Amino acid sequence: MSGTASLFFSPTGTTRKIVRAFAEGYGGPRTENDISLPVTREKPLKNGGADDLFVFAGPVYGGRSFKLLTKTIGKLDGGGRPAVCIAVYGGRHYDMALADLYEAAADAGFRVIACGAFIGEHSFSSAIQTGRPDKEDLALAMDFGRQVRERAEAAKAAGKDLPAMAPEDVPKREVDLAAIGMHRERLGRLSPNRPLAAENCIRCGTCAAVCPLGLIDRDDPEKIEEKCIKCGACVKACPVGAMRFPQEDFKEVAKNCEETFGKEERSPQIWFA
Ligand SMILES: Cc1cc2nc3c(=O)[nH]c(=O)nc-3n(C[C@H](O)[C@H](O)[C@H](O)COP(=O)(O)O)c2cc1C
Repeated sequence: MSGTASLFFSPTGTTRKIVRAFAEGYGGPRTENDISLPVTREKPLKNGGADDLFVFAGPVYGGRSFKLLTKTIGKLDGGGRPAVCIAVYGGRHYDMALADLYEAAADAGFRVIACGAFIGEHSFSSAIQTGRPDKEDLALAMDFGRQVRERAEAAKAAGKDLPAMAPEDVPKREVDLAAIGMHRERLGRLSPNRPLAAENCIRCGTCAAVCPLGLIDRDDPEKIEEKCIKCGACVKACPVGAMRFPQEDFKEVAKNCEETFGKEERSPQIWFA
């Protein structure tokens, strides 16, 4: 029985949960390329079995998919293999993120047969879509996997390929960050922001171990290189709550997000060709 080969980026782990639930629903052996840490990106990419379904997944950042992920997809040779794209977003919107994943997958020679948008607790604040994906989300992700499996089996029995989505079938929306008080220039100004370790830091090295860009010094978490993407991994993983973004503009954006869509009801969505 064929299984899944996944390629995903997931600094705070919500995407990883969705991918794993999907793979469980689809069944068969699972090959994972989790590119969330520098050390994992040194390894060669695993292709899985020739009949495996590829799953490309990542968080939505500013309405887009993270370039590191789409560039890594570009290193694979799809050779007409089927793929599913999944964007995980923190309750605002996925905007162009699925379209980005689709384009990267199609350019690499994959046939994208389905897309999904799922909800994850926001990287900026645990008060935004708290605890997502929850049990229901994971059940839906599993069911999404099951549905793809059923379609794949039916197509195989009929001696056909699963139909591929056309670019215009992929849901997309113009990025409008102004709605949450963010705009491109503002994002630019936010970018030098990086987390700071408060006095209660116990120098345990957890933040350094989880930083997806390897920017934090293991022995001294106050030494953080620039280029921080504000993914929230260090803040959420710190066992004593010492890592935080104390900058006023960052706090303002997080508060704005909490107020505008933090508790809004959001449901996962899936699309097929
Ligand atoms: C820099 C940045 C930008 C983000 N932009 C968006 C966005 O545009 N829309 C949205 O709904 N969520 C946004 N989020 C939230 C993440 O997409 C969400 O929390 C996701 O579940 C994180 O995935 P992970 O747990 O796999 O890291 C953003 C998060 C970060 C760090």
